[in-house]
Amino acid sequence: SLAGLDLVEEINRLKKERNAVILGHYYQEPAIQDISDFVGDSLDLSRKAAETDADVIAFCGVRFMAETAKILSPQKTVVLPDMDAGCSLEDSCPPEAFKRFREEHPDHIALTYINCSAEVKALSDIIVTSSSTEKILSQLPRDQKIIFAPDRHLGAYFARKTGRNMLLWPGACIVHEAFSEKELIKLQAQHPDAPTAAHPECPAHILDHADYVGSTSGILKWVLEHEADKIIIATETHIIHQMEKAAPHKTFIGAPGADGNCNCNMCPFMAMNTMEKLYFALRDLEPRIEMSEDVRLKALKPLERMLEMAG
Ligand code: 13P
Ligand code: SF4
Repeated sequence: SLAGLDLVEEINRLKKERNAVILGHYYQEPAIQDISDFVGDSLDLSRKAAETDADVIAFCGVRFMAETAKILSPQKTVVLPDMDAGCSLEDSCPPEAFKRFREEHPDHIALTYINCSAEVKALSDIIVTSSSTEKILSQLPRDQKIIFAPDRHLGAYFARKTGRNMLLWPGACIVHEAFSEKELIKLQAQHPDAPTAAHPECPAHILDHADYVGSTSGILKWVLEHEADKIIIATETHIIHQMEKAAPHKTFIGAPGADGNCNCNMCPFMAMNTMEKLYFALRDLEPRIEMSEDVRLKALKPLERMLEMAG
């Protein structure tokens, strides 16, 4: 039983004992963000995973993020507090279907959003994140034919922004799709001085009302630099923890769902990780990310291209 255990103390003790690093995503619960050695967006976390000299990476995020860490740092033990922490974007893009889609479009390269399985990465040419898509796109010839998978909203946003025509895989994030345009407009009318920051996984009808669109790290930076003291946030709600820590005098309002409440904006996959499960993961070094060396090496190439091209 965990009764009587000080989880923060125990996690920190095990972390030293294991020579582990805790990498956390902004969508994790506050206690997990606070105990992480590093909190960041998908690109930041990939870079950290590639660079760390720890023996163990305890990845507090979803499975595709922990898999990315393993692909980049195969000699390290990578644990994920809950192996069921998936992602609706990953679910929307089964490898066999993606393989067939690529075969139907042999003249296209596959630019694939990092929110996908290791198998789909292995079938891709270049991986991108929300913070690197634009920069990577700008390095590809204008006439290059491109498949963009699996997030159709993020793909459509960058296609619009860069004036490119990309063939979009029809996937979406259940969290970012749940925001309501009608309720957002109402909220903006109630707070006319509050600008809105949104993640590119939101559909166009939300992004059209945003003053800033960017990755979680991008949103955080923008919000902290902005002079407004009240800001509407259209992404997963737990990022507000970092905003409140860094700017306690500002007010952050989560964008609402169709019922007018901001209870739609929690990622059920991210929420599967808990402090208890993080403690067990460091204690038992389980659940552990494993994959075949064949898939890993194939997935490594497009990830290395991302790190190179993202600069
Ligand atoms: P970021 O790379 O912006 O952190 O996005 C990760 C994610 O899963 C968004 O839903
Ligand atoms: Fe996947 Fe959406 Fe959760 Fe991000 S917020 S991990 S895209 S389901």
